[in-house]
Amino acid sequence: MWEKRPVIFLVLATAAILVGTIVTMVLPFAWVNTDADRIEGVKPYTALQQEGRDVYIREGCNNCHSQTVRPLVSDVLRYGEYSKSGEFVYDRPFLWGSKRTGPDLARLGGKYPDEWHYKHMESPRSMVPKTNMPDYGWLADNQLDPHMIQRKMEVLDFPFTADEIKGLNGKNEMDAMVAYMQKLGSDIPWRQATETTIVGDLVNPYPNVDHATMEPWEEIYAANCAACHGEHLEGVIGPELVGEAYDEETLFTLIYTGIQDGGMPSFASLGTDKVWKLVNFIKYYNQGENH
Ligand code: HEC
Ligand code: HEC
Repeated sequence: MWEKRPVIFLVLATAAILVGTIVTMVLPFAWVNTDADRIEGVKPYTALQQEGRDVYIREGCNNCHSQTVRPLVSDVLRYGEYSKSGEFVYDRPFLWGSKRTGPDLARLGGKYPDEWHYKHMESPRSMVPKTNMPDYGWLADNQLDPHMIQRKMEVLDFPFTADEIKGLNGKNEMDAMVAYMQKLGSDIPWRQATETTIVGDLVNPYPNVDHATMEPWEEIYAANCAACHGEHLEGVIGPELVGEAYDEETLFTLIYTGIQDGGMPSFASLGTDKVWKLVNFIKYYNQGENH
């Protein structure tokens, strides 16, 4: 019967569509980026970091990496507390992504030393032998354009100083990328609190192992530790592990929880068994050195 009353039909249809539009579009726009969303301590990007972010977008790194910890148990166990909207208030555009060929990068800052990033970007396989991430060494050949970056900072309305812009002279896109990597998630206050905790007593399941048992464990070391501590524990980016005086509980804790913002990542993801094998491998290696 409505079809015979075109005017009323039009009014009712418009009202129905408007309600939908207001609920799904207008209200959320009014809700985002309000003070309630802001997180104390989250700072805008510096000029160098912002340029790194633009290179990240240009190179399509987001096709392989997400930047959001989803509220799912598996994500929270792997990356810590799930992402809040206030973490992204300075992200224009946001880079949450939906594809994870590589790991999520939302909390990457401080996980590795700068030097690791330079080497990993230049040749990911030198740090992680089996990765399929492409090489980006050529980023170091592209000098930054301070004038252009200053204009971007003005458009984004991010604070910067003249000295900061001057400091961009002589820097390249690789420097910008590493600065951006180290900023990711580094100023979220609860990140400091997300430390890996060890559950249960520490009991070495492999006391007094012999060389034959030990040998295959060298591969766990080669795959996870050698890039930073050297093939023969001589130290590269991380310190040498020869002459290691720590007792086995301390060694286990160091490897399992990592050293936050010291550049030593947590290896809880390997599981306790493999971490104990590493502890014994390091201990055995050191005994071997002394013989
Ligand atoms: C073809 C997919 C692919 C592309 C494109 C890619 N990556 Fe990766 N990335 C990976 C994979 C796989 C890993 C895990 C192994 C490794 O560390 O290399 C990874 C790891 C990383 C890591 C170490 C993360 C961690 O927590 O250990 C960083 C940092 C990183 N990528 C940055 C970048 C940047 C920056 C770009 C763009 C310039 C980029 N990636 C492009 C696949 C990719
Ligand atoms: C991304 C580089 C990196 C990787 C990979 C890495 N480490 Fe480390 N490691 C470091 C750095 C950097 C330090 C020094 C941290 C500090 O003292 O603040 C360190 C410290 C240590 C220490 C304490 C050494 C000391 O003298 O204080 C031990 C033990 C250790 N790492 C073992 C391992 C083991 C075992 C693995 C492999 C499962 C591993 N690390 C993987 C970078 C790394």
